[in-house]
Amino acid sequence: MKAVYPGSFDPITYGHIDLVERSSRIFDEVIVLVMENVNKRHFFNHEERMRMVRHAVSEFSNVSITTHSGLLVDFARANNVKVVIRGLRAVSDFELELQMAHANKSMLPELETLFLMTETNNSFISSSMVREIATFGGDISKWVPSCVREEFRKKFVR
Ligand code: COA
Repeated sequence: MKAVYPGSFDPITYGHIDLVERSSRIFDEVIVLVMENVNKRHFFNHEERMRMVRHAVSEFSNVSITTHSGLLVDFARANNVKVVIRGLRAVSDFELELQMAHANKSMLPELETLFLMTETNNSFISSSMVREIATFGGDISKWVPSCVREEFRKKFVR
């Protein structure tokens, strides 16, 4: 059975990677789908986010990376995917995630959203926190892999 793990991954963090690893143990195939969140202004462009995700999950043999610019349900329908993985860090994530899961299910009833609880160590990490700390020169090595730190370095050198 295959599952899709969609996100904007701006940038990918150890929180996301933990979910990829755990879902790769549950499903035969996991597709990490790099998408646009129209409610956010992305810091890294699409290519940069793809590059970081590709590096960060390269060790998992049953995980592939791709992209889609429309609705998640259209991707799921076209690729015969019936399960969406999302992470929940705290109660604050729940409301929006529930809304998205219901919206997706009402557009594509056979699509189930499976929520995995984020590991305690990662429960406070967010991409925006990482961006803020990196912007002010702080050490982000506890939260993101070296490929992400390298992309930040390239941005700040220019
Ligand atoms: N551990 C730590 N942090 C986590 C995490 C985890 N396991 N899972 C998510 N996060 C954090 C991220 O770091 C990010 O933090 P930020 O808000 O500070 O940037 C945040 O939670 C969510 O980011 P992410 O999961 O990368 O993506 P997203 O929520 O931006 O993605 C889409 C949303 C792309 C899946 C959604 O907008 C979508 O499906 N878009 C396509 C259009 C569509 O179909 N819309 C209809 C759906 S209603």
